[in-house]
Amino acid sequence: MLYAPNRAPSAKEPKPLFFPVSPFLLFSGIQATFRVYLRQNGKYVLYTREEDRLQDTHRQKLFDMGVRSVYVLSEQKEAYESYLEEHLDAFLDNETIPSEQRAETFHSLSSGIVEEFFEHRLPTNAGGPIYDRVQKLVRSSVRFLSKSDSLRDVSRLITHTYKTYAHCLHVFIYATAIYSTMSGMDEEALVRNGLGALLHDIGKTRIDKAVLDKPGKLTDAEWAGMRQHPMHGAAICSNLPLAGDTINCILFHHERFDGGGYPAGLVGEAIPLAVRVVTVCDVYDALTSDRAYAPAVTPFEALSIMRDQMADHFDMEIYRRLVLVLSGAKVV
Ligand SMILES: [Fe+2]
Repeated sequence: MLYAPNRAPSAKEPKPLFFPVSPFLLFSGIQATFRVYLRQNGKYVLYTREEDRLQDTHRQKLFDMGVRSVYVLSEQKEAYESYLEEHLDAFLDNETIPSEQRAETFHSLSSGIVEEFFEHRLPTNAGGPIYDRVQKLVRSSVRFLSKSDSLRDVSRLITHTYKTYAHCLHVFIYATAIYSTMSGMDEEALVRNGLGALLHDIGKTRIDKAVLDKPGKLTDAEWAGMRQHPMHGAAICSNLPLAGDTINCILFHHERFDGGGYPAGLVGEAIPLAVRVVTVCDVYDALTSDRAYAPAVTPFEALSIMRDQMADHFDMEIYRRLVLVLSGAKVV
């Protein structure tokens, strides 16, 4: 239902009062928890109220009117973001919404949730509502991330500045694309392994930032401390109800296929399959990110380095799957 125009905000009021949203984010039949406005002749016009169910017809009508942005009050941003998060699975599975739009929403929501988990809630408490949000994020997004169009559209949004939380999110994205090419990988396995990929470097939240961001070579003592991060990660997560596959990704992602890794020196297929996928994606994302000690290289260069200089580190069958999913998504 279209409501009568309300009072336009005065030019003297603090800005921004509204933020733009794509009409595609108006779902079918779900009750909104915020108001939606149109912008007409320089004024904001109330379109739907909090109690309204946002129907497909709203979206279609707006599309027919040529409307490409609607507006939400900045003071209702939290309600809007909770609404997206609550209904993320329905949104990501909705094939009537363009994949680019779903990718953007996934990327912006997941970045916020994972950043909060890594940067603000750790290392003191990995549990509670923030962990529930992380787990729900993984459960809501693995089906979407299993589609090659999704990797294509999400990878365009990936920034190449290294931050631990962003790196973990990227590894989750790449790893889920690889897991979904494997037989016998049902949705529960995607969730368990995806969570492992997302949390794999959580132990770095206990490493001194000066060491993490050090531009030069680490001293022996700093390196010894850095090598503790898988154990820190397992300790941080010890109070969470994680599956064995998930814990394995945290604890063993620095094992090498030739046995030269840490902390256990596992060799070959003794390293669990889920972990071998995380290891390949971990190195690929690190190489393609600007780190304190080395600039980012292109995806093609990263894959060449991994093949020519690091082949002993990986299960090369997994490496080939990474090349396949990246080329399928037109990343390389
Ligand atoms: Fe790591």
